[in-house]
Parts: sequence; structure tokens; C-alpha cells
Amino acid sequence: MADLFRSKAVAAALGLLTHFVANSGEWDHHAHLLVSGGPLLFGALVAFEYVADPLVGSYSQAFQVVATAAAVYLGTLTASIIIYRAYFHRLGKVLETLTPIVKQQYNTDIVRTGPRELSVASAEAIPLIYGPMSKCRKGVWYSGSYHIEGASLQSTRNHQDHRERRKAWDRAFNAKALRDYEPRLNRHTRVFVDKLKEHVKESSVRISSWIGFYAFDVMGDIGYNRGFGMLEKGEEDEMIELVHKSMAPLSIFGHIPWIVGIMLRTSFGAKDLLNFMKLTQDILMERKKITPTEPDVFSHLIDETAEEIPKQLNADSRLMMVAGSDTTHATLTWLIWELCTHKDAQAKLCKITDDLVPEKSFLDVDDVKDCPHLDGAINESLRLHPAVPSGVMRETPAAGITLPDGTYIPSETTIWMPIHTIQRDGRSFSEPLKFMPERWTDEAPEYVKDKRAFIPFSAGVYNCVGQKLAMMEMRVVVANLMRWFEIDFAGDMGEAVVKKSRDAFTLSVGALDVKLTPRYKS
Ligand code: HEM
Repeated sequence: MADLFRSKAVAAALGLLTHFVANSGEWDHHAHLLVSGGPLLFGALVAFEYVADPLVGSYSQAFQVVATAAAVYLGTLTASIIIYRAYFHRLGKVLETLTPIVKQQYNTDIVRTGPRELSVASAEAIPLIYGPMSKCRKGVWYSGSYHIEGASLQSTRNHQDHRERRKAWDRAFNAKALRDYEPRLNRHTRVFVDKLKEHVKESSVRISSWIGFYAFDVMGDIGYNRGFGMLEKGEEDEMIELVHKSMAPLSIFGHIPWIVGIMLRTSFGAKDLLNFMKLTQDILMERKKITPTEPDVFSHLIDETAEEIPKQLNADSRLMMVAGSDTTHATLTWLIWELCTHKDAQAKLCKITDDLVPEKSFLDVDDVKDCPHLDGAINESLRLHPAVPSGVMRETPAAGITLPDGTYIPSETTIWMPIHTIQRDGRSFSEPLKFMPERWTDEAPEYVKDKRAFIPFSAGVYNCVGQKLAMMEMRVVVANLMRWFEIDFAGDMGEAVVKKSRDAFTLSVGALDVKLTPRYKS
């Protein structure tokens, strides 16, 4: 037995075997076992070597023997990985490697961004990867927190499970439910406008914060019948900070799922995410104790007769909190940035919204539902500054897929479709970088060449279930902002929005300061 420890051939064979096993399954969320089990195993082997090997007289000699075996093992494993990835990997033939610069240099839509990860920036490929008939499933990244809170509607990778659960979510956002939510949207929008009116004498108003307060108050009320009261207080609840801090690690580590697994299990670098999970769980628990007078989203999801909250509903609670607020917050902030940058576009939108029910000073959700130019302005913000900039991760099926350009993508390959890039592509949009609401109306439809490329809410069966609510929310806010204020940058040209916005799966937007000039007689 002791001879085995000294055999370099055995250590090297184990290295190769480990690579083979790791390569033939999905181990991303077991990496913590290697990190915690590796040192333990090493210690145990040193002790065993000391006891079992007659040639070894001290712990330091035993250590040396095991360390040599470990070095051969790890060296072989590393060499095997490098050689395999360089010459034999199933993606090897598909592409040149790394960085988006490659796209420009080599004029390709497909970039390899990880060992088994591709970025595909092609509108033509969207139906195949995201469409209703797509054979792709959600990628490994989605299952990172199953062990803590179960799978949410968004993170479940089981198609059947998603289909079953989506029925309840669809009910929570159908036409009847949306009508139920309307009075609450109107109420919060009135408070939003009234609060801003209090600040018109100031030379600078942090509009991005007020939009954040609005978005979270709406989501708390419609989601959980819970008042965060951020608009009333004019203060950020810890919730907003936690949402941003908890999402921050996902910007980089979303592409290295096994690290997220280790972080969540060791809480190293994931403290905010774990705190956020606990908070959203507590909020759901409080919601379970009440019967709301006005139905909310969780009225459709909670089983009132059940004693316990099923584990996966905690994941749904976190999903609701992030998806229902941060996304509209980012889109509205960017839209105001665009309207301050393009004052002619602001004047035009102002004129058009002024003509909607002119006898009313405050516009309700119902007043703004049919205004193509208003929708066009929102669409332009969604297009140029998508709230989920890198898109969503999918995994190819066992048979692989063949893209419309003939490129074969092998099985179990992770694909991201970068929405930000796709929606700024000149092949799909004329003058793609220009903010132009008219491209979405009868005025200049020829500026949208390929509508498939517009996917801010994703597409297919996993598309955004809250998109109609999001549009209602954004329409009523923008229309009332236009009716009540002229908006200009305060100080610089909104540089923080450009420089400090971060891709953290959702778009974490930088601060925007503006000067509000009243358009009403005080
Ligand atoms: C500007 C606003 C919004 C944008 C751009 C947006 C975008 C998206 C995207 C891209 C997805 C796909 C995620 C994935 O496949 O991993 C998604 C899913 C989802 N969104 Fe939204 N969203 C917005 C607003 C909202 C709102 C207001 C709510 C709820 C109140 C909401 C709830 C959801 C839910 C529950 C899902 C998961 C759907 C599923 O997997 O079946 N979203 N959203």
C-alpha cells in the first residue's frame, strides 16, 4: 500500500482519471467539496503514510511523500486540462478564442468566453436559442443557490417544473390582475410627482434615487402588499443597497459558476447575497401571515391553507424583489438620461403627452396605455440600455444545435446572447446608436430592420412574465414627468450614469442628478 503512495505513475493516472470524471458530468456546484475536502484528504494521507509506511520515520518525511504524489497528481491534471482544451475540446474547432475584440478583428458573431461558454451575438440565432421551440435549456449558473432556497420560477432548469409554476405567475400578471394593480400604480405615481414638486427649487435632484424609491415601493405593494414607504421618507431602505450589493459578484462570477457555488457555501464574498436571501425570506414570511384587502402577486402564488412556505417560494420572493424593481429603475433612469441628452426628443414627447387627455393634470395608467410615441421612447431605453445587458444563459441539448449560419455548436455548451450588443447591431437597426422613438411608430418603422433583435424581456417560454406591468409602470411615470417638469442635467452631462453603471446580471445604474423646472403654475 505504501508503495502506491510513492508511485508517480499511480498519481499521474489518478490525475487523468479525475479529469475524465470531471469532464463527463456537471460538477460546477460541487467544487466546494474539492476545496474543503482536498486539504482534509491530504492531512489524512500524511497520517496514513506515517503509520503505514515502514520507510518513513517522521511526519515531515510522510509529508514529503504525500506532497510529491500530490504535485504529480495536480501537475498531470493541469497538463491534461490544458492539452485537452488546446487540441481536443469539443469547442476547439468552432472558434477563435476570447474577448469581444475578436468579434471586430475576425468579424464573427460567435466568441468563446470560457472553456465551454460561447457568446452568440446574432439576431438570426435568437429563435433557435430562446424561442418557444428551442431545445436549449437553462444553464448551470441557474442552479447555484438551490441548496439554500430551492429553485425560483426563473432559476428552475426543469422544463416541466417551469411550465407548471409559470401558470400561477401568468395568473398573477394577466389582464384581470393588472387591472387590480392599477389603482396602486396611480397612487404611487402621484406620490412620486408630489415629492418631486417639493424639490423644484433645488439646483440638483437625484432623480435616479427617487425612481429607485418609486420602483421599490411599487414592487413592495404589488408584490407583497407591503409598504416600504421610501417615497414618503425620501430615504433609501436597506433593501436597495442589498439588492445591488448582492448582485455585484454576479457580474464576473456569473461566468464562472463553480466559484459562485464555493462563495455561497463558504459565505466568502457572498455575505450580502446570503443576507438578501434571508431578508426576502423574512418578507415573504410576514406576507404569509396577512390576507391582503387588494390582491397582490403572492396572492396567486401562496397556498393560504398550507402551514409552511415551500422552500422554492423563498427563491421566488428574491426573484420578485430583483426582477420587479431594479429593471424598471435602470430603464427609467437611462430614459431620463436620454431625454436630457436629446432635448428635442424631450420636447416632442412632452408635446405628445400634453395632448393625451389635456383636461387632466395627472395622467392615470389608463390614460397612457395607447401612446405609440411614449412606448417608442421606452423601447429606445430598453434597446440601448437593456436592464439585463449580457442576456441570459442557455445550454445546448445532447445533439447540439446548428446555427442559421451553419455553425455547429456541440452538446452541453453554455451560450450567452449579449442583448446589449445585439440591440445595437446595424444589421437590425438603422443608425443603431441613435435614440429614436420614431423607429417604433408609423413615423420611421424602416429604422427597425429586424424586430427579432429586440429582446429586452428575453423571448420564448422563459420570457419576462412581468413585462406588461413594467410597461404600465414606466408609461405612467414618464408621461407624468413630461407633464409636470422640464428636465435638464444638473452639473455635468449625467456622467455617473455612463461611467458607473455596472452589468451585474441586471443593470446596476449610476446616479443621475437633474434640475427640474416646473411646467405648472405653483
Ligand atoms: C424594464 C423592466 C424589465 C425587464 C427589462 C425585464 C427583463 C427580464 C428578462 C430578460 C427576463 C429573463 C430572465 C432569464 O431568463 O433568466 C425576465 C424574467 C422575469 N421577469 Fe422581468 N423584466 C422587467 C420587469 C419585470 C417586472 C416589473 C417583474 C415583476 C413584477 C418581472 C418579473 C420577472 C419574472 C418573474 C421573470 C422570470 C420568468 C420566467 O422565468 O418564467 N420583470 N425579465
